[in-house]
Amino acid sequence: MASLPNDPIGSDYVIDQGWSRYNAADHAIWRDLFLRQSAMLPGGACEEFMQGLTGLGVVADEIPKFDDLNAILEPATNWTIVAVPGLVPDDIFFNHLANRRFPATNWIRRRDQMDYLQEPDIFHDVFGHVPILMNPVFADYLQAYGRGGMKALRLGALPLLARLYWYTVEFGLIKTDQGLRIYGAGIVSSRGESRYCLEDGKPARIGFDLSRIMRTRYRIDDFQEVYFVIDNFDQLFDATAPDFTPLYEQVRGFPELAPSDTVPGDSLIKLAR
Ligand code: PHE
Ligand code: CO
Repeated sequence: MASLPNDPIGSDYVIDQGWSRYNAADHAIWRDLFLRQSAMLPGGACEEFMQGLTGLGVVADEIPKFDDLNAILEPATNWTIVAVPGLVPDDIFFNHLANRRFPATNWIRRRDQMDYLQEPDIFHDVFGHVPILMNPVFADYLQAYGRGGMKALRLGALPLLARLYWYTVEFGLIKTDQGLRIYGAGIVSSRGESRYCLEDGKPARIGFDLSRIMRTRYRIDDFQEVYFVIDNFDQLFDATAPDFTPLYEQVRGFPELAPSDTVPGDSLIKLAR
């Protein structure tokens, strides 16, 4: 369901979700995606994600109404979801995050896109991103990221900061007593990668390291070749709290790394087998 051309789009790109325009086929796509990804969550997704998903009452039955989610999310962490037609300009995106608004696309993919999409749709945005926003520490992290994004734009450092988003918000792993778990939205909403990232011997898994992440390119066309692993969300928040201005300068002085590179100093995490 694409948004209609005459939908009013504000300067903040926010539109009405237009929930009544989803048809039975749209809801069925949601349901099939939901059931498929839910099956891998036990033993795959971290506890914080699971709690968020349950707490929000997101279910397979039908595409959620943003108003219903907000009635739970806003009292929990003071975040709200707003509907947008697709990817929005960087400054608009950061401004939403800095104000604790998560811009979620309102359209759902087609049947022939079940396994792979290049742009976020409502399943990726809502199933992938929103549950973890029920966690207070992650919620604060994403707001701080939005503020940091505005600063990175001024400093011309957006490519460096974007890598942090990629390797945490989208593809982050977390260490738990039960083993590695997923918190990244790009993994949790992806059929193949949710297993691959935890079980496959090929990709590297490296302990969270802010400047290392900022040096590391990423690929958008295939499973990741490297994942960065946090110990907990406090670590993520604390490590990213200082002013990045000097860090950007420092990182610019280091050579970039390919996703497949490892360097001395990487704390490589072995799979328990
Ligand atoms: N501390 C960062 C800065 O000064 C802001 C930030 C916080 C960026 C958290 C990303 C994540 O730019
Ligand atoms: Co995303």
